[in-house]
Amino acid sequence: MSFPEGPAPAEVDDAHAAAIEAAAVDTAAFKRAVGSFATGVTVVTTRGADDRLLAFTANSFTSVSLDPPLVLICLNRRAPSMAGFAIGRAFVVNILAADQQRLSGHFARPSDDKLAGIEHRLTDAGIPVLTGTHATLECRLEHWFHGGDHVILVGRVEAVDSADNEPLVFHRSRYTT
Ligand SMILES: Cc1cc2nc3c(=O)[nH]c(=O)nc-3n(C[C@H](O)[C@H](O)[C@H](O)COP(=O)(O)O)c2cc1C
Repeated sequence: MSFPEGPAPAEVDDAHAAAIEAAAVDTAAFKRAVGSFATGVTVVTTRGADDRLLAFTANSFTSVSLDPPLVLICLNRRAPSMAGFAIGRAFVVNILAADQQRLSGHFARPSDDKLAGIEHRLTDAGIPVLTGTHATLECRLEHWFHGGDHVILVGRVEAVDSADNEPLVFHRSRYTT
């Protein structure tokens, strides 16, 4: 398992860990509750150290700060896409349009070459920007933090673009428009 470079966040102390344990909730109930929060759907694209293009579907995207412009996504620490993230490296958040449900499914399935046959262009940093999306944010990894079984990736936004179309929406494990 590899992690991006960066300072290690503070460890959780024993008392805090015990309090978390005591407050543990049922996983299915937790999923039901958080799944009731409607989100958009993004495909995050990057390039691994071996130059391989990487991409994954993520609905954990949120904006963090206006000044400086920061956004975050949470990535499963065991995901192969982790190989694309290191402090200072570029990535793109592609916010999907309502008619791009098929792409959401495609990029959520593990594959060695997810970009094959998918219409895209490359940024100056060589990161894929998908065609026909709702919006695009070109980012550079500025911070990362441990987040349980996920890693919280915070990117500084360097360029944006948005289209006059409708977004894809995800709610209770279903796509809605
Ligand atoms: C709608 C939707 C949202 C998802 N959101 C996330 C997410 O925010 N973080 C994450 O790690 N995986 C998320 N996934 C699962 C990943 O897309 C999936 O595990 C993918 O295979 C990871 O790519 P990789 O195997 O190439 O690393 C989501 C899947 C779907 C369908």
